[in-house]
Amino acid sequence: MSGAPGRAETAAVSASERGAAQAAWRPSGARGRLFAPLNTPIRDWAGKRVWIVGASSGIGEALALELARRGACLALSARGATRLRAVCAACDAAAAGAGLPSGDAGLSANAPGERAKLAAEPAPTETLALPLDLSRDGEIERARDALLARWGGFDLVVFNAGTYRPLRAWELSVEAVRETLELNLVGTMSGVAAVLPTLLAQGRGALALVGSVAGYGGLPKATVYGPSKAALINFAEVLHLDLAPRGIDVFLIDPGFVATPLTAQNDFTMPALQTPAQAAEAIVEGFARGDFEIHFPKRFTRVLKLLQWLPRRAYFALVRRATGL
Ligand SMILES: NC(=O)c1ccc[n+]([C@@H]2O[C@H](COP(=O)([O-])OP(=O)(O)OC[C@H]3O[C@@H](n4cnc5c(N)ncnc54)[C@H](OP(=O)(O)O)[C@@H]3O)[C@@H](O)[C@H]2O)c1
Repeated sequence: MSGAPGRAETAAVSASERGAAQAAWRPSGARGRLFAPLNTPIRDWAGKRVWIVGASSGIGEALALELARRGACLALSARGATRLRAVCAACDAAAAGAGLPSGDAGLSANAPGERAKLAAEPAPTETLALPLDLSRDGEIERARDALLARWGGFDLVVFNAGTYRPLRAWELSVEAVRETLELNLVGTMSGVAAVLPTLLAQGRGALALVGSVAGYGGLPKATVYGPSKAALINFAEVLHLDLAPRGIDVFLIDPGFVATPLTAQNDFTMPALQTPAQAAEAIVEGFARGDFEIHFPKRFTRVLKLLQWLPRRAYFALVRRATGL
């Protein structure tokens, strides 16, 4: 793929980036190690092969557009193929607007007639549509195989797909539990299981899981959503512990409130509400720092983090007062 680094070259870039980051962050000895980034900072996106699952709206769409402008090769997944193709076209337009050549957005892993296209070399900044339902058995694996046939590997896979139903405790239903956990937790964990063998074989690359500040501690209306995100936070920590020594970076992205279709159903004023574009910018900055946890906006997330240090009596009282629930 002309203009984009090949796999060996990308690995070399990554190794040199890691070295440069360590040199910048590790002045000497134990003090240096204490402040070293937990992940290899990602600053140069040109030619990076990035797969975003949950990219047709909201945070995922904004992140795709931002990375397209920075020259990444993108594969975008969600259930709605029509919307996905529109986002692909917008990404190609964004890349072209940034002066980058773009490729074919028409690939679909689930369309047998299009498989012939998979053998071709990726264009420098192509954006591919890979429609899939993360809650359905076998779909992420089918998409992975199609993408591997084209790219041969991944530099970053972002698991962003998620669902949220505001429910008070007395509105709990097994159906809501199943729907939320099937996507937010089982879907994300299955997705990681699907791409991990490739990342381990590469001995490099990165995973990013989108959690939420709702996973920090119990919040009203996050009766099922909160526990699903708490489990993802824990999962990301386990992954980092196991995979960092094997050269795989693991990023955990914990947004505060972002104005998207997901939060449009909230009937309360969301504090420190951000736009999807602001969220994407914060995420890209977090990747550039090599943060393990990318949380934003800091003025909101830091307060929520502080609350977790409080005795539960004080925590419950403050949450009740803040939410009025
Ligand atoms: N917005 C916030 O304030 C906020 C705060 C904290 C965390 N988050 C998290 O951020 C992530 C993105 O949320 P968002 O606010 O940007 O919501 P969104 O606009 O609703 O985006 C969700 C994305 O996931 C896709 N998706 C949903 N179900 C899917 C499935 N079964 N298989 C594959 N893709 C699926 C959606 O497309 P299709 O419907 O076409 O499949 C869409 O592209 C979620 O994990 C959410 O929990 C959001």
